[in-house]
Amino acid sequence: MKRIAVYPGSFDPITNGHVDIIHRSLLVFDEVIVAVAFNPDKDSAWFTPDERVAMIREAFASEGNRVRADAFTGLLVDYAAAKGATAIVRGLRAVADFEYEFQMTSMNRHLKPQVETIFMVAGESHFYISSRLVKEVASLGGNVAGLLPDQVLARLLARVRERRS
Ligand code: PNS
Repeated sequence: MKRIAVYPGSFDPITNGHVDIIHRSLLVFDEVIVAVAFNPDKDSAWFTPDERVAMIREAFASEGNRVRADAFTGLLVDYAAAKGATAIVRGLRAVADFEYEFQMTSMNRHLKPQVETIFMVAGESHFYISSRLVKEVASLGGNVAGLLPDQVLARLLARVRERRS
């Protein structure tokens, strides 16, 4: 039986921190579904769900079908169960992440105890990377090269220019 994990998040956009967590997950799972969460009522993202999915697919084009990218609305645990996933993967950077993750994991376990949440610790060179900070720094003219896959960097810089005009 294939071991399938869902790696959910906003991925607005995917960063090298996310890429690192996906590579680590591939050492443990046969397939990783990178799932872009989308709430039409709340979403203030820079990129549409389709754009976010396309960037993830581009970044993992060489992995074949071991990494799939998808977008979903609704409850994560329902999505994970519908995909036949046994685990949800989340990345941890610092202690500050823990409280939020602990709360979400506990709620997800309450909703669907059969789906386990697994935490992966990002490599130390990725501890400070977040999509939110990368967008902020890029929009203020800072250099974010090396923090995102190259194709994603190009799209981010294009989006910064569009948002300025
Ligand atoms: O990258 P993020 O923004 O920290 O990811 C948060 C995410 C997408 C994992 C979380 O908001 C989520 O699971 N959303 C789907 C809706 C849901 O199931 N909410 C209840 C979570 S306990």
